[in-house]
Amino acid sequence: MKFTFRLVTAIWLGALLVVASFAFVQVREERERLTVDLERRGVLLGESLKEALEPVVARGSKPAVERILKRFSTATRALAVYDRYDSLLLATPDLTPALPPVFPEVTEALVSGNVTSGFRRLGDQNRYVYAAPLHRDDRVVGALAVVLDAGHLSVAEWGVWRKYALHFVVLASVVSLIALVIVQSAVTRPMAQISAWTRALRTGRQVPPPSIPDAKLFGPLAGEVVRLARSMQRAQAAAEQEAALRLSGETIWTEERLKQYVSLNLEGRSLVVVSNREPVSHYWRNGKIHPQIPASGLVTAMGPVMRVCGGVWVAHGSGDADVETADARGRLGLPEDDPRYTLRRVWLTKEEEQGYYYGFANEGLWPLCHIVHTRPTFRPDDFAHYQAANRKFAETVLSEIRDAENPLVLIQDYHFALLPALVKAERPDARVAIFWHIPWPNFEAFGICPWQRELLEGMLGADLISFHTQYHCNNFLETVDRALEARIDWEKFAVTRGDHATHVKPFPISVAPEFLEDPPPITREDLLRELGVSVEFLGVGVERVDYTKGLPERFRALGWFFERYPEYRGRLAFVQLGAPSRSTIARYQQLQHEVEEAIREVNEAWQTRTWRPILYLNRHHEHRDIWAYYRHSDFCMVTALHDGMNLVAKEFVSTRDDEGGVLILSRFTGASHELHDALLVNPYDLSATAEAVHAAVEMPAEERRARMQRMRRVVREHNIYRWAGLLLHELSHLPVAAAPVRAS
Ligand code: F6P
Repeated sequence: MKFTFRLVTAIWLGALLVVASFAFVQVREERERLTVDLERRGVLLGESLKEALEPVVARGSKPAVERILKRFSTATRALAVYDRYDSLLLATPDLTPALPPVFPEVTEALVSGNVTSGFRRLGDQNRYVYAAPLHRDDRVVGALAVVLDAGHLSVAEWGVWRKYALHFVVLASVVSLIALVIVQSAVTRPMAQISAWTRALRTGRQVPPPSIPDAKLFGPLAGEVVRLARSMQRAQAAAEQEAALRLSGETIWTEERLKQYVSLNLEGRSLVVVSNREPVSHYWRNGKIHPQIPASGLVTAMGPVMRVCGGVWVAHGSGDADVETADARGRLGLPEDDPRYTLRRVWLTKEEEQGYYYGFANEGLWPLCHIVHTRPTFRPDDFAHYQAANRKFAETVLSEIRDAENPLVLIQDYHFALLPALVKAERPDARVAIFWHIPWPNFEAFGICPWQRELLEGMLGADLISFHTQYHCNNFLETVDRALEARIDWEKFAVTRGDHATHVKPFPISVAPEFLEDPPPITREDLLRELGVSVEFLGVGVERVDYTKGLPERFRALGWFFERYPEYRGRLAFVQLGAPSRSTIARYQQLQHEVEEAIREVNEAWQTRTWRPILYLNRHHEHRDIWAYYRHSDFCMVTALHDGMNLVAKEFVSTRDDEGGVLILSRFTGASHELHDALLVNPYDLSATAEAVHAAVEMPAEERRARMQRMRRVVREHNIYRWAGLLLHELSHLPVAAAPVRAS
C-alpha cells in the first residue's frame, strides 16, 4: 500500500512538473501574442489620431478635440488628451472617473517627447496604455493617451491554465492506472506468489514453485530467490526421502546421503574429475551464445555427482563459444544459474584434437575395445598427439591440486590412459582412479595396439582402475599379465609393480533416480501431434550415431517385424533420435549413410500415404526433449553391438514412473547384467530382435508393469550416487604407499 501510494504520488508530482512547465511556456507565449496585438492597435490608433489632434490641441480648441474623441472612441478603446502642462483637456466619458491624477505614461511622453506604453490598472480594469506626445513646430503641445481594454489577456491566460490542468489530471490518472496494473501483475502478484510459496515451504509443504512470467523484471535478485527456494525444496525433499529410507531400514544412496558421506569422510579433500567431454559446451548461434549439454553417458552420470560433491571438473573446451564463457584460466561455475562446482576447460589446437581425440582415441582405442568389426587405425602421429594431450591435461590437473593435501583425482575414460602415471609421478600423495567407460577386450585383441605397453603403464599409475563389469576387470588383468612384468594378486584383484599397487574393481555406473527434476508437461497426444503421426504404438531409440550402437541392425529387425506382422503396419511408428557424433571420421560418415539407407529401405517397403514406419530425427536433443520420448513410448530399443554399460537403458527405466513401457536390450551391454527384466536380445539376430518387438507390443499390461517395477527398483538402488559413494569410498580407503610412479 505504502509502495503504491508512493508510486502514485511520484507519478502525479512528475506529471505536474512536466505539465506545469508546458503550461507556463504556453501562457507566456499567449501573453506575448496578445500584447503585440494591443501594441499594434495602440500604435495604429495613436499615429492616425496624432495628425488630427496636433493642430487643435495647439490651438486649445476643446470642441474640436471632443469631436475627434467621440468619433474614435469605442467601448473597448478610450482616449484622453492632455495639454503641455500635463493637465487633462478631455477624455472619453467612461474613462474620466478612472483616470489617476498623475498619469505616468502621459507625463513621461510629455517630458521625453517619446511614445511610452504599458499595462496599468485603471478603475477595476486592467488596461493597456499607449501615450504619444503631440507636436506643433517641433514643440510638444500636449499628449494623447490611447487606453485599450486588456481584460481579455487574463481571460486567455486562465483558459490556457485550465486546459493544461485538465491535461494534467487525465495524464496523471491514466499513467497511474497503467502503472498500478503493471505493478499489480508483474510485481505485486508474483511477489505475493513467491512469498506464499516460500511460506508454504517453510511450513514443510511440498508446493511446486510458481511460474513467474517475467523473472528478468526482478533482475538477478528474483532469480536468486527462486533458486534459493528451489534448493530449499530439493534439500527438504532429499531430507524427507532420507528419513523415510532410514525408517524403512533401506540403505539406498541418495543425493543427500552422498553429500553427507563426502562431508564426513573426505574431510575437505579436493576432488578433481577429468574427462574429455565437458558437462556443457557453449556455441554461437545467430549471434548469440547457447549452452548445450553434450550427448554423452559420461556427462549424464557425472553431472549429478559433481553437483553434490563440488570440486573441479577438467575437460576439453570444445564449443566455439567456450572461450567467451569462461574466465582467463578457462574456469566457470556450474550449473550456471546455481554454481556448485568449477569447470576448468583445457584448450586444444585443431591438430591436437584431430590426433588425440578423433585419431588415437576414436579411430584406435574405441574400435579396439568394442570389437564390432571396425578395424582400429593406429597412426604414430595420433599417438604423439595423444601423449601431448595427456601431458597437457596432467599440467592442468597438477595446477588445480597444487595447494591441496591428498587430493582425489577421478580420471574418466579411454582418452586418458597415460594420465594416471603422469599425475602420480608428480603427486604421489594424490589418490588417483581411472574409470574406463568402454569395454576392455581380451588380451589377444588388446595386444594388437602398438602402444599397449605405454597405455598399461600409464593406467597402472592409478591407485584404482575401474570398469563396469568384473569380466572387463578380468580381461584387463590378463592383458597386464601377458604384456608387462608385474605381480598380479588374483584374490585381491591388484597389480603390483615395484612399490606401487593398483586395485582393479568393477563399479557399474548408473544414472540419477530422476532423469529430470521438473519434466515438461507434455502428454503422449502432444508428442504424437508434434511428430505428425497417429499410431497406437510408439517405439523409441536414443543414441549418438555410432557404429557400436547397432542402428542398421535395429532398423532391419523392424523391417522384419513389419513383414512378419502386417497387422502392425499403420499402427506402430518407431522414432530414432540420432545425435551426430565424431562426424569428421570416415567410418562415422559411412555409418550415417548406412543408417539412412537402412531406414529408407524399411520405409519404402512398408510406408503408406499416411504412415511411415521409422522417423529419423538426426540432430542433438536436450534431456527435456528426450524425456517425452522415453516417457510416452511403448518400448525402447537398445541394440548396441557392444557397450560398456549403456545409460540409455537406465535413463528409459528412470523416466517410467507410470511403470509402463518395455525395454528391449542388447545382451552385449553392461546394463544387461543388471536389467534382467528387459527383453534381452542378440542384436545381430534380426529375427529374434523382431520377435522381441512383437513381444513388447503384445505384452500383457500386468507383466509389463511387473517387469518395469523390478527394473525401476534396480535403477533406484544402483543409482549414480551409490556409484560415486562406493567409488570414492574405495579410493579414499585404499592402502596407498606414497612412492612416486615413473611416468613413461
Ligand atoms: O563411454 C564412452 C563415452 O565416453 C560416453 O561417455 C559417451 O556415450 C561417449 O563416449 C561420448 O562420446 P564423445 O565424447 O566422443 O562424443
